[in-house]
Amino acid sequence: MTLNIAELLARQPSGLPRYTSYPPANHFEPDGGPALLGALVAAASAADKLSLYIHIPYCDRICWFCGCHTKQTMRYEPVADYVKVLVQEIALWGAELKRKVPVSALHLGGGSPSLLRREELQMIKEALHAAFDFSQTPEISIEIDPSDVKDGTIADLMSFGMTRASIGVQDFDPAVQAAINRPQSFELTRDVVRALRAAGIQSINIDALYGLPLQDTGKLALTLKKVLNLEPDRIALFGYAHVPWMKPHQRLIDEKTLPDSAMRLQQAEFAANVITDFDYRAIGIDHFAKPGDTLALAAKRGRLHRNFQGYSDDDASVRLGFGPSSIGCFPGGYVQNEVATGRYATLVQTGRLALARGLALSDDDRMRSFIIERLLCDFAFSFDELVKCFGVSALPLISQACGIAAGEYAELCWVDDAGLHMTDEARPVVRIIAAQFDTWLKPAEQRYSKVV
Ligand SMILES: C[S@@+](CC[C@H](N)C(=O)[O-])C[C@H]1O[C@@H](n2cnc3c(N)ncnc32)[C@H](O)[C@@H]1O
Ligand code: SF4
Repeated sequence: MTLNIAELLARQPSGLPRYTSYPPANHFEPDGGPALLGALVAAASAADKLSLYIHIPYCDRICWFCGCHTKQTMRYEPVADYVKVLVQEIALWGAELKRKVPVSALHLGGGSPSLLRREELQMIKEALHAAFDFSQTPEISIEIDPSDVKDGTIADLMSFGMTRASIGVQDFDPAVQAAINRPQSFELTRDVVRALRAAGIQSINIDALYGLPLQDTGKLALTLKKVLNLEPDRIALFGYAHVPWMKPHQRLIDEKTLPDSAMRLQQAEFAANVITDFDYRAIGIDHFAKPGDTLALAAKRGRLHRNFQGYSDDDASVRLGFGPSSIGCFPGGYVQNEVATGRYATLVQTGRLALARGLALSDDDRMRSFIIERLLCDFAFSFDELVKCFGVSALPLISQACGIAAGEYAELCWVDDAGLHMTDEARPVVRIIAAQFDTWLKPAEQRYSKVV
């Protein structure tokens, strides 16, 4: 019997978490952050390497679909003022740690880090080098809005140390672009890709979206043709998350023009076929990479990870986040900075770290986090690995897996001696199986984005 995913989706009462962490960030508790500081500092000081995330919460335009934590500014002064606080926060972390810990990866996200100018990039670089050890030439990835790129922008980002670039495209169709307030020509995008290649960037990701207003498979096909023409090393194809209760500017999108769940599924499947026909490997639920790309290699070896930026081959066990709303994680739990830029700045300017919320992981959370991350990355998890990591206390979760595969979701997955495996057809709805292991999920209270 073939699986009817559209019918299955129609039966889901609401959306589900994206599982970029487990438990998802909406369960972090006020004051949980400061309470975890000591444990986080100890873990970071002892770590063999650290992963760093820096958030730039500013853009010079606001796209109506945007779900990121950002604010529009037409003046540069607020950005320059913000960077002065950011470098203070980096210095505060440097002072907390017992030694300069090597950095394996640094990601500048936002918002739009591409609007930073040379002076501010230099200030951030100096603060980072004073606080951490950059001698192991970490990967430095930066999110770029092509409309920010002026003469000198790419040279400035290169002198910061950029090794990877991620470019926002979303959709090239003019009607879709008008419906999401994101005008962006193919020619501009192509010129930015060419300039990045000419500057020596060997790894370029392009973000595209399905499920946007007025989108259909025909328009998606034309967008993907143009994206593929640019030969990115990776493509992130996210389903548009329409969450106007969290992002009021999304109300500017006419909901009548949004594709329904069945159309979204059709678009996701269509796009995946188009991209994989071009010899990209499908990675997790929404990424694609050329076969030789480190993300594809990590996926092949079962070494893929999922974090707040999506999929990654970075295996550092401690990640520090800088800037408002940034999340840090370590084996003992998660911490999140103040979300409001003003409150974040006040704390940092008075010499305090801006940790506001967090969560200490219980042993049960850690086991479920392991299972959910492996499901989202590999569409399977190994019983042996689980027991190797957590001992006999993992046995009830193996029984739970057997129950899931024998029950309501028998069409989506099966178990054997090795572990639980999703069927190929069910991969797009892996979040439904992940949610079976989520003891924090309260469907009646939480509102999440659509499953596909
Ligand atoms: C910080 S932005 C990328 C950098 C830059 N600001 C830009 O827009 O080009 C990160 C990415 O998140 C994705 N994104 C933003 N809002 C989203 C939403 N509501 N649903 C799904 N993906 C979203 C977009 O693909 C976007 O390129
Ligand atoms: S999509 Fe990018 S440029 Fe547009 S508002 Fe969001 S972060 Fe800013």
